[in-house]
Amino acid sequence: MNICITGLQWGDEGKGKVVDTLAEKSDIVVRYSGGANAGHTVVVGNDRFALHLLPSGSVRQNVKCVIANGVVIDPETLIEEIGSLAEKNIHLDGRLLISENAHIVLDYHKAEDRLREQALGGEKIGTTIRGIGPCYADKVGRSFAIRVADLRDLARLKDKLYAVVEYKNKLFSAVYSAQPIDAGQIYEKCRIYADRLLPFATDTTEFLHKSISGGKSVLFEGAQGALLDLDHGTFPFVTSSNASSLGMPAGSGVPCRMVDKFIGVAKAYTTRVGSGPFPTEQDNEIGNYIRDKGNEYGTTTGRPRRCGWFDAVAVSYTITIGSIDTIALMHLDTLTGIEKLSVCTGYQIGAREVSFFPSNLDKLSRVQCVYETVDGWNEDVSNVTDFNDLPSNAKNYITLIEQATTRPITIIGVGPKRNQMIFR
Ligand code: GDP
Ligand code: IMO
Ligand code: MG
Repeated sequence: MNICITGLQWGDEGKGKVVDTLAEKSDIVVRYSGGANAGHTVVVGNDRFALHLLPSGSVRQNVKCVIANGVVIDPETLIEEIGSLAEKNIHLDGRLLISENAHIVLDYHKAEDRLREQALGGEKIGTTIRGIGPCYADKVGRSFAIRVADLRDLARLKDKLYAVVEYKNKLFSAVYSAQPIDAGQIYEKCRIYADRLLPFATDTTEFLHKSISGGKSVLFEGAQGALLDLDHGTFPFVTSSNASSLGMPAGSGVPCRMVDKFIGVAKAYTTRVGSGPFPTEQDNEIGNYIRDKGNEYGTTTGRPRRCGWFDAVAVSYTITIGSIDTIALMHLDTLTGIEKLSVCTGYQIGAREVSFFPSNLDKLSRVQCVYETVDGWNEDVSNVTDFNDLPSNAKNYITLIEQATTRPITIIGVGPKRNQMIFR
């Protein structure tokens, strides 16, 4: 069975935890989009892993891990991540495969990300400053792109790097009055990247197809969330890749029809980091309660996450574009202690009902949410392992979300740890 797991909201839904759990029964876990902007948390016993580039299956020694062509790789972060797992006696040798076609994030990408955000001031996207947008822009632009395979010919890479950096420096100096970047330093770093990463570099598309033909089970691990999808999210407040499951075929070379099941991960409420519209946002004591109780601070940047009610209109939309079969609903425990819980079940513009989530910003900024409100619960649910043992109000809340999204909730998260999960 091949499964694709993606976020149904604006990221940080708990994908890492779900992937880690399902990886137990998988042979291969694949990251296919985004880069070190992602932060996927896996908690095993007292160990907490925050993975940015390695697939969340990497903490399980028997699982092969693929970083496929659609990922933009920050080699420095990846080398650090491999090292920090090795310190915990988790080794990637012989089980990590990096696509030779994946593009590389270099210092000038991160510099451009930072300079542009600074220049935008109040209009900024609120990116993670991980160089994601500039690297994908170079990929699409082609001429200045550097891929993993380019590390194999260092002499040619050196010439190319000097030419690219010369261009970038002219641009940064003219547009942002920025200090020049040293091409020599970047080249020296690339020599280290080549040494450390080329042993893992291969044709991952070939590997995945041969593995699937050979009966191996593959888990595709989405990054970000579908509302951050470059084409289908809340543009321009999105990331620079197709973060919905629509990005999986292009980002891995494996067509959708080879995937048996699409699981969408959502929180039992909604969070967002960075700028952009958020119709159900609760910038009040409810939002503060959720942030404190759910520890809603960015895994990658540490920024406080904006918090609000579950938005069934938005999630129904991401279910539709992502061909999602079932939902994994995380953080049910975080809602314990809230007297009344609301779920947004409709949008209106004036008196008119909006029948489909408007990804267009002008429309989205004008919607008013229609809520259904139910009673909350006070019981601690963090040790519950059987759905039937949940408080009846928690079950009612789950049923309300199932009805509003028309999908079954088959996995429920009741805490950050691996075993704090209810399967139905
Ligand atoms: P991802 O980017 O989708 O993998 O999610 P993140 O790791 O960025 O953020 C999810 C956060 O919620 C992490 O700190 C997880 O440890 C934590 N988490 C995941 N599931 C649950 C849950 O069911 N309950 C609680 N309380 N925390 C959870
Ligand atoms: P995971 O995989 C939450 C957000 C940023 C910003 C926008 C663009 O952990 O769910 P970028 O650096 O990608 O150019 O930033 O996207 N963003 C995320 N938000 N979770 C993520 O990843 C995110 N990756 C990017 O905050 O608003
Ligand atoms: Mg995250």
